[in-house]
Formats: sequence, structure tokens, C-alpha cells
Amino acid sequence: MKIPSRSHVHMLSYLLVLLLLPLLASSADPDSLQDFCVADQSASSISVNGYPCKPASKVTTDDFFFDGLTKVGDTSNIFGSSVTAGNVLSFPALNTLGISMNRVDLAAGGLNPPHTHPRATESGVVISGQVLVGFVTPGNVYHSKVLYAGQMFVIPRGLVHFQKNVGTGIALIVTAFNSQLPGAVVLPFNLFASTPTIPNDVLARAFQVEEKVIESIKPKFSS
Ligand code: GLV
Ligand code: MN
Repeated sequence: MKIPSRSHVHMLSYLLVLLLLPLLASSADPDSLQDFCVADQSASSISVNGYPCKPASKVTTDDFFFDGLTKVGDTSNIFGSSVTAGNVLSFPALNTLGISMNRVDLAAGGLNPPHTHPRATESGVVISGQVLVGFVTPGNVYHSKVLYAGQMFVIPRGLVHFQKNVGTGIALIVTAFNSQLPGAVVLPFNLFASTPTIPNDVLARAFQVEEKVIESIKPKFSS
């Protein structure tokens, strides 16, 4: 049998890494190394990627249940919408498990404004109402559809998306993510209400408007 030369072995390892790269790039949170790791959010002096685990002896049945999504969100705000997060911050048992969910309430005409999730793909199901769901690809193609109760959608990781209630009553959506903490970059706040703020001339040039237009937008989003 012919023994492969050292350069052949190098070439094979290189090809293997190239083959595995797409798999690595498409994964979300890393896999868990233990059965569970209920986040110990009080261990604030330790900074890790995620949260340290509560000692197993202190974990209780209640840690694995969360009723935060049972409550109707308050939609009396400028957008007429409310997002209630069931992520590792509110439901610490999600720590290291790579999943989370949200509840999205929309008043009639309400909008969950354009936003992205830097760490997760989102899927969702309309529970009640009629909802226009839209997202834009990196190639600037807009995909959208009006969905009714029971119908699902998916938003690939990192893409700008929104949901708008186009029915006459309230609407409810439940969303799910392949991350314990997907993150949310809400574009109106990100662009017009950052700290410190992006200079007006930058935004005016970017959006091809007069600076006074930017000056009139910023106060709408400052808290
Ligand atoms: C909806 O887009 C959500 O982020 O829950
Ligand atoms: Mn979203």
C-alpha cells in the first residue's frame, strides 16, 4: 500500500477544513457540554460567553418553566407593538441550550419596526389576526406575505424584517430563535438614537436628505 506523503496529508487536512467551514458558519449558539446549565445571573463578577451554571443542587423544577409569554404586551407606544422576550435573561434555564422565544403583540395597525437579530435565525407563527411579514435580503430583494392564524414564516439570520398588523383587531405572533440571546438591532433607534448620536451630516448624506430632516427624526426616538 502506498503511504501518503506529508504534503498529501496537508492537502487533505486543508480540504477537510474547507468542507467543514460552511457547517461552522451556519451554526448558531455553540452546543451545550452538559445536560443543562441554568444561568446563575448573580455570579456577576465572572464574565464568560454565556452565563456560569447554578450549582446542580440549587436547580429546581421551577427553573425549567416560564410564564412570561402568557401576559399580553403593552402596545400603547409610538409603534403600537410590544415584544416580550423569553430569552436567557428572563428564562435562565435557556443558558447554553441555543434557543429562545418571543411574544409579539400588535394593536390594530401596529408595527414591530424593521430590525435584525445578529445572532439568530427567527421563525414565527401567527396565533391570531392578519399580519404582513416582510424581510429584505442582502441583495436588496424584499419578500413579504400577509399571514393568518397558524401560518409560519422564517427570517434568515441577520436580515432586516418587520411585522405589521393589517387586520382590524389585535394580532399575536410567537417567534422562536436558534440562540439563547438573539440580540435585536431596531433600526430607528440604532440609527437615530444611539449614544452618542451619529452626526446629522452623516445620516443626511446617507439618506440623501437635508440635515433638518434628520434633526426632525431624532427626537422621535430619543428616550
Ligand atoms: C419578531 O420579529 C421578533 O423578533 O420577535
Ligand atoms: Mn425579529
